[in-house]
Amino acid sequence: MIKSDSKPTNSEHKTIRTAIAGATGYTGAELVKLIVGHPKAELAAVTSRSYGGQSLDNIFPSMRNIVNIKCEDMKPESLFGRIDCIFLALPHKISMQYAPVFLENNIKVIDLSADFRFKNLSAYEDTYQKHSAPKLLEQAVYGLSEIYKDDIKKANLIGNPGCYPTSFLLPVVPLVREGVIKKHGIISDSKSGVSGAGRSASLTSHYCEVTESFKPYKIGAHRHVPEMEEILSAQTGENINITFVPHLLPMSRGMLTTIYAELSDNIGHKTGHNIEHDSDNTGHDSDNTGHDSDNTGHDGYNTGHNSDNAEDKDGHSGHKGYEAILNILKQYYDNHFFVRILPQGKFPDTAHVRGTNFCDIGFWVDDKSRRVIIVCAIDNILKGAAGQAVQNMNLMFGMDEKTGLELIPGAI
Ligand SMILES: NC(=O)c1ccc[n+]([C@@H]2O[C@H](COP(=O)([O-])OP(=O)(O)OC[C@H]3O[C@@H](n4cnc5c(N)ncnc54)[C@H](OP(=O)(O)O)[C@@H]3O)[C@@H](O)[C@H]2O)c1
Repeated sequence: MIKSDSKPTNSEHKTIRTAIAGATGYTGAELVKLIVGHPKAELAAVTSRSYGGQSLDNIFPSMRNIVNIKCEDMKPESLFGRIDCIFLALPHKISMQYAPVFLENNIKVIDLSADFRFKNLSAYEDTYQKHSAPKLLEQAVYGLSEIYKDDIKKANLIGNPGCYPTSFLLPVVPLVREGVIKKHGIISDSKSGVSGAGRSASLTSHYCEVTESFKPYKIGAHRHVPEMEEILSAQTGENINITFVPHLLPMSRGMLTTIYAELSDNIGHKTGHNIEHDSDNTGHDSDNTGHDSDNTGHDGYNTGHNSDNAEDKDGHSGHKGYEAILNILKQYYDNHFFVRILPQGKFPDTAHVRGTNFCDIGFWVDDKSRRVIIVCAIDNILKGAAGQAVQNMNLMFGMDEKTGLELIPGAI
């Protein structure tokens, strides 16, 4: 999405002045692209340790004739008065050093690292390292835009979610909250493109190590597990543990997560109608609830069933289970442009969300095993990082969450 009037200056008629720290990394570069194309934000500064004084189009030839802003050293005081918001696209441990000083100077902070994703300090410190700004964890809002929308609108500090957690939590949070799946025994089998590891060279992301290969990694030890468990537990008021297996896909970007969960015993009675959200507790947006119940599950979704065969021999109901899950997902996400619930029999594909902020969700109720299988696809660098960060900026500054993010997926 490049505006026709885009020029190497980032100035006229913009309202929010932003800076991007770590602009030379993968998520930083994607943020540059989004902010330069954003109708209500300007790119006032970009910082880099390694490329100080160099212009971005020199570092990224794809930006030639579009973005020639020069990288500055990261000196917070030189940004005071010049920006309203900073994106910290930096490694964890580095972000926590900078966030406090920007907040003290009335600059909103959106941190893409893990430093402000946790409320539980010991969970963070056990998983990462000692926190140098633990008091800020209380005020930080977890930036899962659709779920914590109301809190994000009031926030000054966002802990932008990890990519794996985004692809897992968006489909699962509504279903555990509404009790249609069992809270325990949930399995997340997830695959990520190699850009998830960042732009720095390493043996594990070396072309020859990755191409024509497909493998799991960090089974039982991935840092995103405590993040996902903390949010699920906060959303349900019950300690929840999950099984998570990440894999490395031989492609540059994209993430596909397959989730297996047991259906609740009483799913046949959960129609998804009249769900009441406790917005104080969850940060849910009240306008994604309370749809006309006549409308749920039947608007354009051909389930391929009719009500006569709704129940199976055991008195369980695949149809009712399907309907209950569909209705809940639709009630949570019908008013959220970026979450697309696919029709029955259709499943997500990373190619359909590539280069966009969309999160596509498809699911199947397996009546024999009493499980639901949910598949979720995102672009790890966009909805999993930079796109969601801009969505959060939009909410924090009172704009439509879609502003500057209406990117159309390519046909291939
Ligand atoms: N990649 C993804 O899919 C993804 C998804 C969700 C969240 N995240 C998170 O987003 C953050 C950025 O990820 P990324 O993939 O963009 O990483 P990246 O490609 O490695 O970029 C990080 C940038 O930060 C700068 N940097 C590195 N070490 C630094 C230090 N010690 N002090 C100051 N600056 C330093 C580097 O730029 P200079 O050398 O030019 O300073 C580097 O280009 C990470 O915390 C990551 O966990 C990434």
